[in-house]
Amino acid sequence: MKKSLITGLIVAGTLGVALSAHADPRTRFMAANCSYCHGPDGKSRGAIPSLTGLEPGYFVQQMKAFRDGSRPSTVMKKHANGYSDAEFEAMAKYFASIK
Ligand code: HEC
Repeated sequence: MKKSLITGLIVAGTLGVALSAHADPRTRFMAANCSYCHGPDGKSRGAIPSLTGLEPGYFVQQMKAFRDGSRPSTVMKKHANGYSDAEFEAMAKYFASIK
């Protein structure tokens, strides 16, 4: 019982390190701006879609569509406006890496 708890903690710790290795601090900072609506780490608990696990190509395409207005949105145009294509890509990889 005790042993499995310790093993669990070690596994969780290793996963945490593996995840943070995927994203530089700036990407994490950008992603944190989305958590207010999309949930912590992009895991939504409400009506707003989750970002976690979205296919990166789809993610980037949606962000560009919000920015240029070809996908109608309530709030996302405002958010997409603030980022470059490279930043969309970085966030796409970050959210896709979260399980
Ligand atoms: C103020 C709340 C809010 C914030 C902050 C926000 N979003 Fe959204 N997001 C929404 C809503 C609401 C939708 C549904 C489309 C709409 O109505 O704008 C959405 C939709 C999306 C979608 C489409 C998901 C899909 O499954 O098609 C993506 C991708 C997305 N947001 C990414 C982001 C990213 C990246 C950020 C941070 C830079 C962010 N959002 C910040 C509210 C928010």
